Amino acid sequence: MMQKQIGNDLAIRLEIKHKMIYKGNRMCQAKPFLKWAGGKGQLLEQFKGYFPKELNGKGIIKHYYEPFLGGGAVFFWVMQNCKIEKSYLNELNPEIYLCYVAIQKDVGSVIKHLKNLENKYHKMNDEEQSTFFYQVRNEYNTFRKTAKTKQLSSKEVSARVAMTIFLNRTCFNGLYRVNASGDFNVPFGRYKNPLICNEENLLAISELLQKSVITNEDFAVVKKQIKPNSFVYFDPPYRPLNKTSNFTSYIANVFDDEEQMRLAGLVKSLSSKNGVKIMLSNSDPKNQDPNDDFFDKLYEDFNLTRLKAKRLINCNAAKRAQISEILVTNY
Ligand SMILES: C[S@@+](CC[C@H](N)C(=O)[O-])C[C@H]1O[C@@H](n2cnc3c(N)ncnc32)[C@H](O)[C@@H]1O
Repeated sequence: MMQKQIGNDLAIRLEIKHKMIYKGNRMCQAKPFLKWAGGKGQLLEQFKGYFPKELNGKGIIKHYYEPFLGGGAVFFWVMQNCKIEKSYLNELNPEIYLCYVAIQKDVGSVIKHLKNLENKYHKMNDEEQSTFFYQVRNEYNTFRKTAKTKQLSSKEVSARVAMTIFLNRTCFNGLYRVNASGDFNVPFGRYKNPLICNEENLLAISELLQKSVITNEDFAVVKKQIKPNSFVYFDPPYRPLNKTSNFTSYIANVFDDEEQMRLAGLVKSLSSKNGVKIMLSNSDPKNQDPNDDFFDKLYEDFNLTRLKAKRLINCNAAKRAQISEILVTNY
């Protein structure tokens, strides 16, 4: 069954590729399919000046690792601009992990389910769209409770992944937030005509993911996977700017200072390995308190740079402030 599905996916991909070549277009650039808090899309231009030089040129670096994947903005750029043979992607949030796996293995089925949701949604008026959103959200949360106890079929996985993407594209600010019992609780977003199913993008992503190992573990998994001549990009949950900005969104766990220290321990041990280049980003606590040198001390043996970024500082999208972010490298 899964074999047949994979065969179908290949056929769909080839057909789309053929259509594009026929029209004289090149395959579209893969980009994040989720709106993700802490997404690095807007920092990419600045990051380019800080990637290791071995990533380009003769392509000495063959392996790419991203243990806090989220929306994967850096992954998409690196895979399409550097000579990477294999990537190792990890995400602790099981729903997001499932999205990448289903897009890798069963993209045709994800597209089918997502188009179905999109077609229904676009035929509705504003009020019906809102009701539909809450119906899907409710079904999504109810199913999670029953799904825990059983093995999901590939059809159930792609239907669920389509729901995750649908909710992400139509909810308020594209947030991912769960309550203490793990239920997705972001309200309806009221967007005019949101693009819900970007078929070409999903197909292009699926192509890229054919070279990926995708895991659903704690970030420390990278220790088992690491190979010489690699690049590891760590983008952990932010250290909160202030007490109210900690929206505890991604998963029902806490990434506190102890977790940041555990991560720094891993960074130090990986850094001593042959040809392993490491880059890590985080919020700069000095935005709040100029005397807070938590990261300066934690990464005193590394290079630490401060970049300027625009960041949402509370739930009001209009209130974006220029703040600095830190970038740590071992090269
Ligand atoms: C700042 S976001 C990454 C954003 C991503 N770089 C992007 O461009 O969208 C951090 C991610 O780490 C995940 N995460 C949180 N704790 C984790 C852990 N212990 N191990 C692995 N991933 C974790 C969260 O679910 C979240 O997706």
